[in-house]
Amino acid sequence: MDTTPTDALISQLDRLAGEFAAAIAPLDDEQAMRATQAQFLGKKGQVSAVMKELGKLPLADRPRVGEAANRVKDAIAAAVDARLAALADARRAADLARKVDLTLPARPVATGHLHLLTQVRFELVDIFAELGFAVAEGPQIETDWHTFEALAIPKDHPARDMQDTFYVADEIVLRTHTSPVQIRTMQAHPPPIRIVAPGVVYRRDDDATHSPMFSQIEGLVVDRGIRFSDLKGVLTHFANRFFGGSGGLDVRFRPSYFPFVEPGVEVDFTCAFCRGKGCRLCKGTGWIEIGGAGMVDPDVFAAVGIDSEVYTGFAFGMGIERMAMLRHNVSDIKLYYEGDLRFLRQF
Ligand code: PHE
Repeated sequence: MDTTPTDALISQLDRLAGEFAAAIAPLDDEQAMRATQAQFLGKKGQVSAVMKELGKLPLADRPRVGEAANRVKDAIAAAVDARLAALADARRAADLARKVDLTLPARPVATGHLHLLTQVRFELVDIFAELGFAVAEGPQIETDWHTFEALAIPKDHPARDMQDTFYVADEIVLRTHTSPVQIRTMQAHPPPIRIVAPGVVYRRDDDATHSPMFSQIEGLVVDRGIRFSDLKGVLTHFANRFFGGSGGLDVRFRPSYFPFVEPGVEVDFTCAFCRGKGCRLCKGTGWIEIGGAGMVDPDVFAAVGIDSEVYTGFAFGMGIERMAMLRHNVSDIKLYYEGDLRFLRQF
C-alpha cells in the first residue's frame, strides 16, 4: 500500500511522542522536563514544524492530522506526568530504605523554670504555712488611706518621707509596702488572724540594692494574749528554716520606729555565711538586717474597729529580694529583673 503525504505526516507526528519520552528519560527534575516539553510543543518546536506542512494537504485529510497532533500533545503531557510520578516513587522508596536508629536518645526539649524570686516566695510562704499562716493579698494600686492613714501615718507625718511614694492620683498610690494588706485583712476578718502577704511594692529608689519595684512579705498575727515573745519565736523559727540548715541562727531586735507598731524594731538575723563570726557580707558585724516588725499599735486596731483592750498582735515585713540575695549570693538587685538567661538558669 502506497503511503500518502498525509500518512507520512501522521506517522512523523506519532514518532515525536516516542522521541519526547526518550528525551526526558534521563532527566530527574521537573524544570528540565518542562523546558523539553516547551521545545517540542512551542512555536519553534518539532510539532509546530510538522504542522506547517498541513497547508499542503488535501482539505479532507486535515482533520486526521489534527487528531494526530492532539494525540501527540496528550502523549507528551502524559509522559511528563509518568516520569514525575516515577521520580516521586523512587524518592519515597529511598526514604523508606534509609536506616533509622530507634534506640538513639531523643533530642532534649528545653524547658523553663520558675524565676528565682518566685521560688523563694513559694519557699517563704511554705515555711509560714507550716506554722498555720494563711496567705492574704491586696491591690498594688492602693488608697492613701490603706497605705498610710489607717497605719497611723497621717499626711503631715515625717514617716512619709521614709517611703518615696509614686502617686497615681489624689489619694491613690502604688503601695510602698505590703502593710496595707494588714488593714484589708483586719477589716474583712475578725480575730484570730494569722496571715502572710507576699507581694510587689513600689518606691522611688534606684541603686545596686534598691529597685523602684521590689517585693516584700508581710506577717500579721492578732489574737487574745499575743506577746512580743511570740514574734521572736516565729521569726527565730523562720530564720533557721530559711537560712539555717543546721539551726543555731539567732534573731536580734533593735529598737526602731514605724508608726503602726509599738514597740517597733528592726530585725537582724545571725549572718548565715559566717554564723556570726563577721564576714564581708555582714560587714564584720555578724548580723544581717532583714526587715521591720513590732506589736500592732492600738491606733491601727482603732482604725479597723478591733478592740485593743481584748486583742493584741504582732506584724513584720521583710524584703524578698534581700532574702534571696543573701541565700544565693546575688550581688545586684537588677539581676532579678533583666531576664538574662545566664543569670536565671543558675537557679
Ligand atoms: N512596712 C514596713 C516597711 O516597709 C515594714 C514593717 C512591717 C514594719 C510590719 C513593722 C511591721 O518598711
